[in-house]
Amino acid sequence: MYKIAVLPGDGTGPEVVEEGLKVLSAVCKMEGIEYETTSYDFGGDRYLETGEILPDDAIEELRGYHAIYLGAVGHPDVEPGILEKGLLLRLRFELQQYINLRPVKLYPGVECPLANKTPEDIDFVVVRENNEGLYCGTGGFVYKNTPNEVALQELVNTRFGVERCLRYAFEYCRQRDNRKQLTLCAKTNVLTYAHDLWWRAFNEIGEEYPDIERDYAHVDATCMWMVKNPEWFDVIVTPNMFGDIITDLGAMIQGGMGIAAGGNINPQGVSMFEPIGGSAPKYTGQGKINPLAAICSGAMMLDELGESRAAQMIENAVMKVTDSKIKSLSAGKMGYTTSEVGDLVVKELSNA
Ligand code: IPM
Ligand code: MN
Repeated sequence: MYKIAVLPGDGTGPEVVEEGLKVLSAVCKMEGIEYETTSYDFGGDRYLETGEILPDDAIEELRGYHAIYLGAVGHPDVEPGILEKGLLLRLRFELQQYINLRPVKLYPGVECPLANKTPEDIDFVVVRENNEGLYCGTGGFVYKNTPNEVALQELVNTRFGVERCLRYAFEYCRQRDNRKQLTLCAKTNVLTYAHDLWWRAFNEIGEEYPDIERDYAHVDATCMWMVKNPEWFDVIVTPNMFGDIITDLGAMIQGGMGIAAGGNINPQGVSMFEPIGGSAPKYTGQGKINPLAAICSGAMMLDELGESRAAQMIENAVMKVTDSKIKSLSAGKMGYTTSEVGDLVVKELSNA
């Protein structure tokens, strides 16, 4: 019996999570997988009402689940950073979800903004370091709000944090068994301390994986290659901030935020799955947002729980929906409502 914590969050989070849970329920019924969900109302509305973002005891409670399923974090009436740092990043850090796994895969029937690229060309996975780098939150101001103001924001990398991320990436690449090529995306020509650590650790650990071909690209060149020759990539491993940026680009080349799924993984603990697109406040409550990213995140959650067959069933159903049913992945242009898209996936599941 899996115990799943559900955090629908802000904006369109609750709408897409509802569809994800609809699909989860259908596939688990078919496969005889038992689970129970507990919902938590953390997010912007609760913060505005009570001032509470994420109580300490909630974190302890969340450790007791097998997985966390998250909608979105971000509220237009809350100052930037409060919820992001207080809720999303705090969970990622405290639960030591040190990997952010983000597949970039063009599904059949999905319109790709890159000319002449097909699903065969766009199928790679970004392994984003998720607990360090520019996201550590260290730094500060001196003489704030004066002409002498100094602002420091530190990039923190540890040997421990970099190594565990790299090891995960090498293992992932091996088990994915595709082209067995791992690209380190960094900026060793400028970040000559932090990324020198990445570079040395990448090559040292790489020696333990003779079956994996090592490849390197600076982050700017990675952006170029993702547009020009995305077929080059198999698995990309990258520091936190670069991973944030290149996976938005990745989402675009796979057809849009409406399909981009992700998982914050603690391989030894509790992982958290979320569509990467954010809360899209302007679409809240309109039934226009695409739930496929949330549905695919649900599939990633099943996969991480060890239910890879059920996960594959969801992905297959989603591919049928993108191939023959919905017109576009964009909010409001799908030809169906949010809830109808969830229904379509459920229908394809039972047709299979
Ligand atoms: C993401 C988001 C977050 C990040 C924000 C909301 C803090 O953009 O999950 O990619 O930067 O990691
Ligand atoms: Mn992002």
